[in-house]
Amino acid sequence: MGHPILGEKSRAVTEFGSPALASLIEDMLDTMHALNGAGLAAPQIGVSLRVVIFAVESNPRYPHVEPIPQTILINPEIIPLSDAQESGWEGCLSIPGMRGWVPRYAHVRYSGYTQTGEFFEREVRGFHARVVQHEVDHLDGVLYPLRMPDLTRFGFEQELFPATAVMPE
Ligand code: NI
Repeated sequence: MGHPILGEKSRAVTEFGSPALASLIEDMLDTMHALNGAGLAAPQIGVSLRVVIFAVESNPRYPHVEPIPQTILINPEIIPLSDAQESGWEGCLSIPGMRGWVPRYAHVRYSGYTQTGEFFEREVRGFHARVVQHEVDHLDGVLYPLRMPDLTRFGFEQELFPATAVMPE
């Protein structure tokens, strides 16, 4: 947080299936897995392109959430399917050690392109909806604290959740 790229709007991908795009996605997957993240956006590794990835298997950072299939999502669009919002705790690999209580749309449809340029869309709720909104925000220069209406619920993980084992960021 604080690096200029994380505050910028990223550019759309215009060439699919290229070695450069494959290399970017491989770097992103390696980074996300190494840091036990639920998702990652290209600007977080210094590349201002509209590429996000996410996946939740059994993730020690989010022990009580439903799995999300590993997804590579390029040039994404999100449409809320109702006005309803839910708040939940979020972390971000660009804000290590911290958590914030963030409202997000509870039910969304998202769409975008695969690495080879195939269009797809999904209708999702709950944590899956939260993760995709968090990651796509990165492409518009928005970090989760900017979505928080109440900064008293922003703090260090060890202070907010002292009973919880310390988790790698
Ligand atoms: Ni993030």
